Amino acid sequence: MTSKHLLIVCNTPSENTQALANAALAGAQHESIENTRVTLQTPLETNSEDVKRADGIVIGTTENFGYMSGLIKDFFERIYYPCLEETQGKPYALYIRAGNDGLGTKTGVEKIITGLRWKSVQPALILQGDYQPQFAEQVKELGHLMAAGIDNGIY
Ligand SMILES: Cc1cc2nc3c(=O)[nH]c(=O)nc-3n(C[C@H](O)[C@H](O)[C@H](O)COP(=O)(O)O)c2cc1C
Repeated sequence: MTSKHLLIVCNTPSENTQALANAALAGAQHESIENTRVTLQTPLETNSEDVKRADGIVIGTTENFGYMSGLIKDFFERIYYPCLEETQGKPYALYIRAGNDGLGTKTGVEKIITGLRWKSVQPALILQGDYQPQFAEQVKELGHLMAAGIDNGIY
């Protein structure tokens, strides 16, 4: 019986970033995952209750103006205080799609998540430069890793 839940929240302003979101979902829905349901949502449609209910979260953002996307920032602004006391230790993974180095985004997101005291499952995955088809494979792997860890009670 399905008993756990992985939430994927990412902004997808382009075909490439939509492909990355779909890859995260596909990886998390791998046939080996037995008891973990996966939801892919936009930042705008995600609220603090969704976060509280999730057993783990994948965050995906573009780098815009050297920082996380406005939609992901808005998401954090809405969920931060409602989640602060109730989501400590929540496992998460982060991927960043950036034309340049993505470091401003990584620093910004990690600062917020340090405040929330979520638990990092793997170092931030930064997909830099011109879009490469292997980016989707990397994000698929990240989705699979998260779902497998939740499914097996590792995190
Ligand atoms: C308004 C705007 C600002 C952006 N600023 C940055 C930036 O500061 N650093 C960066 O690496 N990429 C920046 N980008 C590029 C986006 O990260 C990129 O368009 C997005 O990740 C989609 O990637 P794609 O071209 O593979 O679809 C910016 C894009 C937009 C639309």
